[in-house]
Amino acid sequence: MDRIGELERKYVNEVLANGFASAKNYSFVTRLEKEFAEKFNVNYAIAMVNGTVTLHAALEAAGIGEGDEVIVPALTMSSTNMSVLFANAIPVFADIDPNTWTISVEDIKRKITSRTKAIIPVSLYGLSSDIDAIMEIAGNHDITVIEDDAQCFLGYYKGRIVGSTAHMSSFSFQAGKHMTSGEGGMVTTNDADLAIKLRRFSGLGYGSIGLEKGRISKDDIQNPDYERHVMLGWNYRPSDLCGAVALAQLQRLDELVEARKYAAKVLKEAAEECKWLTPQMTPANYENSYWTMVVRLDTDKITWQDFRNKFKEFGGDGIYGAWMLGYLEPMYRTQNFMGREKIIARYGDYRYERGICPVAEKIQPRLFQFKTNYWDREAAEKQAEILHKTVQFFNASLF
Ligand SMILES: Cc1ncc(COP(=O)(O)O)c(C=O)c1O
Repeated sequence: MDRIGELERKYVNEVLANGFASAKNYSFVTRLEKEFAEKFNVNYAIAMVNGTVTLHAALEAAGIGEGDEVIVPALTMSSTNMSVLFANAIPVFADIDPNTWTISVEDIKRKITSRTKAIIPVSLYGLSSDIDAIMEIAGNHDITVIEDDAQCFLGYYKGRIVGSTAHMSSFSFQAGKHMTSGEGGMVTTNDADLAIKLRRFSGLGYGSIGLEKGRISKDDIQNPDYERHVMLGWNYRPSDLCGAVALAQLQRLDELVEARKYAAKVLKEAAEECKWLTPQMTPANYENSYWTMVVRLDTDKITWQDFRNKFKEFGGDGIYGAWMLGYLEPMYRTQNFMGREKIIARYGDYRYERGICPVAEKIQPRLFQFKTNYWDREAAEKQAEILHKTVQFFNASLF
């Protein structure tokens, strides 16, 4: 199987043949939104240029702004917490569950204050958080839940598709994701009011934009008295070229996700008998879509580097460490927030330092992320064999 196939080429050629004529421009983006909403079982899907601005737009649509606190997990890619700063709000980091490594429901409860206005749980490595529990807490405190599903396509939570279970959900089509258009993103929601705010915010606040994208007539647009903008908005609209590729990928999503799940399965089996590598726990009733297959190193006899070096020596590829925890990055340590540090200082003495999330601090340096983007089974099986050989090597020499 090829990751990019005939369908993607066909659609891109159609866009080019249309010549970006205004009558046809955005037709692929519009189809993508419609079919994405159907596939993810939601009323509305709004496409944007990437899976970072989607989070920003979702926060703005929820009315999050200056001085509001937004709870984010410590272990995630930086866009989750940076988007909070885009909205002039304050990121509050919650710890992770010791087994699933997704946001800890208990720590969310501890971190809630009267200023908490949103939570952004992340479906980490392809696994949903305990979203029912989070929605219940949110309901009790009038908090908006924006799920960051950049890494989770066709994951399931208690029988429901991930992306349909929060107030809004955000996806990324960046090159490393389950489906891609190089860059791209989507927000899903069932709420018509949020959907229209998302559309207007991501489309320069054009009054002509409705729940469906909406078109302005030539007479209107040429009229010097025409009033266009009903609110402040950013321009986060994707190109129809990206729409074309993403639509083809969406129509092929089942096979793209299956390939990753197969790679994860054989990699997991290869590490199964190993007592010192523990895979991410997928609770009963959850379906992990395995953006990556991740294990934790549970011994001090081997270092992270030792293991990676041996795996590579045996011919392995694609073994990544987990991202540094958000608040331990230099930008947080120094509060280099492009001026927003002054806003934050007005609301309290927020400190981003070691000790905030002890479970995540312990686990993050011990994670190995194995790639699952092998488009033919043999390539995945080869990596699994190498993993098995690496485990056997250390078992024989150290244990
Ligand atoms: C959890 C998470 N959130 C957000 C993003 C940002 O997406 P993008 O790169 O499309 O901006 C990514 C990936 O890049 C991600 O992994």
